Amino acid sequence: MTSVHADVGEVLIDQEVLRTRVEELGAEISADYEGRDLLLVGVLKGAIFFISDLMRELTVPCEIDFMAISSYGAGTDSSGVVRILKDLEINISGRDVLVVEDIIDSGLTLSYLRRTLGARKPASLEICALLTKPERREVEVPVRYVGFEIPNRFVIGYGLDFAERYRNLPYIGVLHPDLVPNGI
Ligand code: IMP
Ligand code: MG
Repeated sequence: MTSVHADVGEVLIDQEVLRTRVEELGAEISADYEGRDLLLVGVLKGAIFFISDLMRELTVPCEIDFMAISSYGAGTDSSGVVRILKDLEINISGRDVLVVEDIIDSGLTLSYLRRTLGARKPASLEICALLTKPERREVEVPVRYVGFEIPNRFVIGYGLDFAERYRNLPYIGVLHPDLVPNGI
């Protein structure tokens, strides 16, 4: 039997640490949005587990919607080309919107998303990212909530993929060095 776990070189953030941090973020967001009605916007596909765990920690009334944005294709480096593959179903005009993203790398995806959603006149627009790699930033994006700052390594698991695989790992890890292609 082959296991996806065998392809992991190192676990960076285990399940328990993830759970605790998501609880903390949920409490912080619930306090900040007290008395308001929140719209969570998940960025597909990487944010699926994070947004579903985070949403269950929120105590304020909230709704959920999703967007899909093209980013890296099957490779690991940002092309800089950002395109909407699936748009929101809910009208965000006048809404308190919190974009939930898996990871901020160059910042290109979120900076594009921020401009696009901002043009639709939400009452407020904030970003919550589970992970950030500050060393890789090419454009500055104001991020209100961050789960963890991580070093410049390509990570997989808890929704994050390498060529669409490994999203099902319940922790954040790095690929085994033998499996890392040249260039990452
Ligand atoms: P950015 O536009 O460069 O900030 O890239 C953001 C997107 O790239 C994220 O939403 C991820 O889908 C993907 N990405 C960036 N770094 C990683 C990584 O280490 N593992 C998996 N996906 C990543
Ligand atoms: Mg991705």
